[in-house]
Amino acid sequence: MLHSALINVMVKAARRAGRSLKRDLGEIENLQVSMKGPANFVTAADKRAEQMLYDDLLKARPGYGFIGEEGGTREGTDKSNTWIVDPLDGTTNFLHGIPQFAISIGLQREGVMFAGVIYNPANDELYIAERGKGAFLNDQRLRVAGRKKLDECVIACGLPHIGRGDHELSRREMTELQPKVAGLRRFGAASLDLAFVAAGRLDGYWERNLQPWDIAAGMIMVREAGGVVSGIEGGDTALATGNVVCGNEYVQTELVKVLKPLG
Ligand code: IPD
Ligand code: CA
Ligand code: CA
Repeated sequence: MLHSALINVMVKAARRAGRSLKRDLGEIENLQVSMKGPANFVTAADKRAEQMLYDDLLKARPGYGFIGEEGGTREGTDKSNTWIVDPLDGTTNFLHGIPQFAISIGLQREGVMFAGVIYNPANDELYIAERGKGAFLNDQRLRVAGRKKLDECVIACGLPHIGRGDHELSRREMTELQPKVAGLRRFGAASLDLAFVAAGRLDGYWERNLQPWDIAAGMIMVREAGGVVSGIEGGDTALATGNVVCGNEYVQTELVKVLKPLG
C-alpha cells in the first residue's frame, strides 16, 4: 500500500527502533531470574530506542521540534512541526516480558495532531494514521466499533500504581463504571489502548494523568478511524491535561457523563 513520504519516514524509524526493542525483549527473560532484575537494562533499551528515533526523524525532517519521554523537549527551527515520541510505551509490561508495548510517534502540525505511527514489535502490529487519509493496521483500514450502549461495551482504563495518581478517584471511577459495562480492561500501554479503540477491538478507553507522548499518536489514530477523543470534561483538552476519553461519539459521550462529575 502506498503512503505519503511523511508516513514512510515514521514507519522506517519505528521499525528500526522496534528491531532494537525486540532484541532487548529476548534478553529480558534471562535477566528476569537475576537478583537485580532487568530494570537498568530496560532503562538502557528505552534510551537507545529514543536516540534511534531522534536520529532517524531529525535526519529526514531537519528543523522539526522533538518532544521525547527520555530526552525532553528539543526546539526546532521549524515552529510548525513537532514530533511527540514515546520510544517505549508500556515499560512495565516490557520489563515483565508481557508483549503489550509499543513505539509511539506523533507529529503535531500547527498545534493539531497531524500523523501517528504506533508499532508493537512483539507481534509486528503497525498502526498508521494521517490527517484526512484514514487509519490503518498493517494496511487494513480501521473503523471504531459501532456499539451505542455501554452495557454492550468493553472499555479499557488506566490504573494508577504505587506513588502515582489518585487511587481514591480511580476506585470511585470503577465503582461507577463496573456495573454499567460488559467488561473493563487494563492493558498497560496507553498508545495501544487508543490504537485498539481505533481498531474497534475496544469500544472505549479513558485514563488520567498521562503525558503528551502517551497519547499524541493514538489521538489521531482514533480520530481518523471515525472516533472521538476528548478530555474528561469533554473538550479537546486531552493533550494539554493528560486526561483522555475516547470511543465512538455515543460511547465517548456516555463515558464523559459518568466520569466528569467524579474528578
Ligand atoms: C505508561 C503506559 C501506561 C499508563 C501510564 C504510562 P510508560 O507509559 O502508557 O499504560 O497507564 O500512565 O505512563 O511509562 O510505559 O511509557
Ligand atoms: Ca508512555
Ligand atoms: Ca515510555
